[in-house]
Amino acid sequence: MDMVSLICSKRDGRELTDAEIDWVIGAYVDGAVADEQVAAFLMAVFWRGLSVAELSRWTSAIIASGERMDLSGLSRPTVDKHSTGGVGDKVSLVLAPLVAACGAAVPQLSGRGLGHTGGTLDKLEAIPGWRSELSNREILAQLEEVGCVICAAGAGLAPADRKLYALRDVTGTVESIPLIAGSIMSKKIAEGTQSLVLDVKVGSGAFMADRGRATELARTMVRLGRDHGLRVTALLSAMDAPLGRAVGNALEVAESVEALSGGGSPDLVELTLALAREMLALAGIRADPAVALRDGSALERYRAMVVAQGGDPDAPLPRAAHVEIVTADRSGIVGRLDARAVGAAAWRLGAGRARKEDPVSATAGVVCHVKPGDEVAEGQRLLELHTDQSERLDWAREALKGAISIGEQSTLPGPVVLEVIA
Ligand code: URA
Repeated sequence: MDMVSLICSKRDGRELTDAEIDWVIGAYVDGAVADEQVAAFLMAVFWRGLSVAELSRWTSAIIASGERMDLSGLSRPTVDKHSTGGVGDKVSLVLAPLVAACGAAVPQLSGRGLGHTGGTLDKLEAIPGWRSELSNREILAQLEEVGCVICAAGAGLAPADRKLYALRDVTGTVESIPLIAGSIMSKKIAEGTQSLVLDVKVGSGAFMADRGRATELARTMVRLGRDHGLRVTALLSAMDAPLGRAVGNALEVAESVEALSGGGSPDLVELTLALAREMLALAGIRADPAVALRDGSALERYRAMVVAQGGDPDAPLPRAAHVEIVTADRSGIVGRLDARAVGAAAWRLGAGRARKEDPVSATAGVVCHVKPGDEVAEGQRLLELHTDQSERLDWAREALKGAISIGEQSTLPGPVVLEVIA
């Protein structure tokens, strides 16, 4: 086979065979075809799409480029969650121990944050001593003993995706539904979980602002997972305002512990419980996750998970050297609290990275003292900006221009869970 003919085939809309797709992925991983040829191929896929059969094979070929973890020896059913990422999305920190407390094993192999949404590993690394790198043997032992693990996906899982994603990132080919679906699902299938719940976010702070495209992505991923033998359900959830009140690494850990202790912002608790119920249903476990949040068993699993990964759950979390308060310039009712702007402000304060090798600050971020629908008085505290570098404050304030609207009209915040796609 030769790459030029395959690029032309895809460009002209011909459906590729299984052997052709296997060849493209294999040749790219082996270095037998050049980046510029695969870039042209990806651009052709971007415009032409992939058929159901092509996408299934594309995903299988990415999985076959590396190892597939074997979790079949565990005594509990395995179930994981993947979120397409949102501002203040600390759900994993609460959900994994919660579902483990109800009897499932949750293998959450995660990534780091890029851009305005934070990564789960970056959040947990705010805990003194906590480590994200675990061997496969440690992952299996922790799943058996604790019931949940949140750690870095090893280099052996879907290596073709890492190479393809880096190329898509610099060639304008990230926003393709089949390429996103294949990328996400190949990693989750290779991780070895039996069941998966997808949290596909919609709104200003989400990867997909448009509900139609988010629904299409969710349906594509559900079908792809099922074609590969997984039980999969997707939730569409709202991401117009930050989830919960904290945005930033240590700040989100503190808010997660609050939710695990029976408190927490209602939107965070509502989404976490909705995801937990779907996960338990797929795992065939009849338990009420709300009870595990109330009775302390989820918190106890969280503490055990942190300890198993070298962290000290009792150590004070790092705090920022500078905290600036943003107050309301008029009285009224909060209409909008724009997730993307708050995410950008947290990023500018140091909570996120521009390139994947950049460091992140554990302490930086934004605390939202109000949520849409709240009544405020002039001069009341709206936001707290946290940073160790005071020179970043002006830049963060700039990102927040127009992010909060205060009006006369009373608006009830909409539901967090918009739709379940099963
Ligand atoms: N996240 C992924 O893992 N892959 C994509 O293509 C997009 C988001």
